[in-house]
Amino acid sequence: MNLKNSVALVTGGSSGIGFGIAKMLGEAGAKVAITARGKDRLMQAAAALGAHPIQADVSKEADVERTYKEVLDKFGDLDILVNNAGRGVFKPLIDMDLKGFEETFATNVTGAMLMTRVAAKIFIKRNRGNVVNISSTASLRGAPGGTAYYASKFALRGMSECWRAELRKNNIRVFLVNPSEVITNFGAASGFDQKDNASKLRPEDIAHMVKAVLEMNDRGFTPELSVFATNPAD
Ligand SMILES: NC(=O)c1ccc[n+]([C@@H]2O[C@H](COP(=O)([O-])OP(=O)(O)OC[C@H]3O[C@@H](n4cnc5c(N)ncnc54)[C@H](OP(=O)(O)O)[C@@H]3O)[C@@H](O)[C@H]2O)c1
Repeated sequence: MNLKNSVALVTGGSSGIGFGIAKMLGEAGAKVAITARGKDRLMQAAAALGAHPIQADVSKEADVERTYKEVLDKFGDLDILVNNAGRGVFKPLIDMDLKGFEETFATNVTGAMLMTRVAAKIFIKRNRGNVVNISSTASLRGAPGGTAYYASKFALRGMSECWRAELRKNNIRVFLVNPSEVITNFGAASGFDQKDNASKLRPEDIAHMVKAVLEMNDRGFTPELSVFATNPAD
């Protein structure tokens, strides 16, 4: 697709990977709307990006409905949904609390489903569209402490396969992008120390891959790709 004058909606666009994707799509000529829950960071990010801010929680049905109303009122169309909003809780199974488990699934799984359910209706009517799910290499294999986060990303991967199977006939491309560790606010937001190092991935590395898969001619698509740092040092 040609990104120029396309309309993109990026959830969790106020920080990290979502901000990087919104920036790169905007630089390629897309009209971009970003969502997040926290207002201050959202407004700052939108101003820096020249994007349309929508304060909304992907896990709340009413917020999701309002998000699309705002996008369509503002831009009149939608070409790309990037399901990027995500959070992590990392605890051994025996310490896993129900609240943290359910909140992780509410954003990473239910939120992506609610967002894509509405986007799919718009895309089916147009007989084209693009859904980019930001999953994780956590969706590829389990690990200690991964009960909530890893399982939520496995679920996102599973939903991506189902949506692809359902929506391909409507010329809707569903991409799954699995970043390994990227330096963002994710560690701080998820309660663990992320050690910065110049050898580790940056949001623009993931944005670069998202832009590349979208820009391929609509006759084809890359279902899934994983992005690793070449030689990350802690
Ligand atoms: N960083 C990594 O190493 C890494 C690796 C693999 C995959 N990922 C995935 O990449 C995605 C982005 O993470 P990041 O590293 O960029 O983290 P980040 O810097 O913490 O950004 C997360 C963004 O999501 C928003 N958000 C969180 N919950 C939300 C909700 N319920 N509704 C709407 N927005 C919500 C946050 O804003 P508010 O809190 O204000 O809502 C923020 O804008 C996540 O899906 C994450 O799982 C990250």
